[in-house]
Amino acid sequence: MEVCQSVRLRQRLESLARAGVLQLPRLRPTGVSFPGAATGDPASREAGADHDRRRGLELLQAEVAACTACQELTATRTQTVFGAGSPAARLVFLGEAPGADEDASGQPFVGAAGQLLTKIIEACTLRREEVYILNVLKCRPPGNRTPQSDEVGNCRKFFERQLEIIRPEFICCLGTTAAQALLQTGESIGKLRGRWFTHADAMVICTYHPSYLLRTPAAKRDVWDDMKRLMDRMGVALEPGR
Ligand code: URA
Repeated sequence: MEVCQSVRLRQRLESLARAGVLQLPRLRPTGVSFPGAATGDPASREAGADHDRRRGLELLQAEVAACTACQELTATRTQTVFGAGSPAARLVFLGEAPGADEDASGQPFVGAAGQLLTKIIEACTLRREEVYILNVLKCRPPGNRTPQSDEVGNCRKFFERQLEIIRPEFICCLGTTAAQALLQTGESIGKLRGRWFTHADAMVICTYHPSYLLRTPAAKRDVWDDMKRLMDRMGVALEPGR
């Protein structure tokens, strides 16, 4: 039966190729089937897509937890920190790497910088649960040192696949490491701020990292300007006077 199907599939592909069709559109990023996939009903398609994303992220999370690509990080981490939030988020925040609190809890942005990020999200009239938060690195660098380029290289496949599964409309890079890793540039965060970029189907904006704001509160004004620009593009209304 399987052989028969694969012969038919081959014949179909060969006939499409003869007709000039050399590429097929990718329908689902995860390739996981879901209940209601075959129905035309938009609500069940939406629920199905959500199921797919959730399942895709679960499978990827298990792969991340088993990763031993970076010897030092594998030896020093308590656990990997995958990401958190809505798998169907329109907006993703991309940070640098877990710190001590994140390494201990397994959740991204839960320490002091995370609490500030939550305040920023809420000032945008959003909730943490409706965005998605992830980091470039999934392991804590010892002493919170800056991630090394080989570590970013090892983790690239993971954060890129998270983004492929979620397919956000908007990505906000928090700080230099996130901005440079996603956009594959050496430009400083100061130069990257205030401009729009694209990554796959997403519009990308870069702003200062919340940890930097804890050390340099005067930069909060710049971050708020960036958030207002982002909310404006997203069509999210802010409270009057903000
Ligand atoms: N800083 C980050 O970049 N990510 C976290 O999860 C916490 C602090």
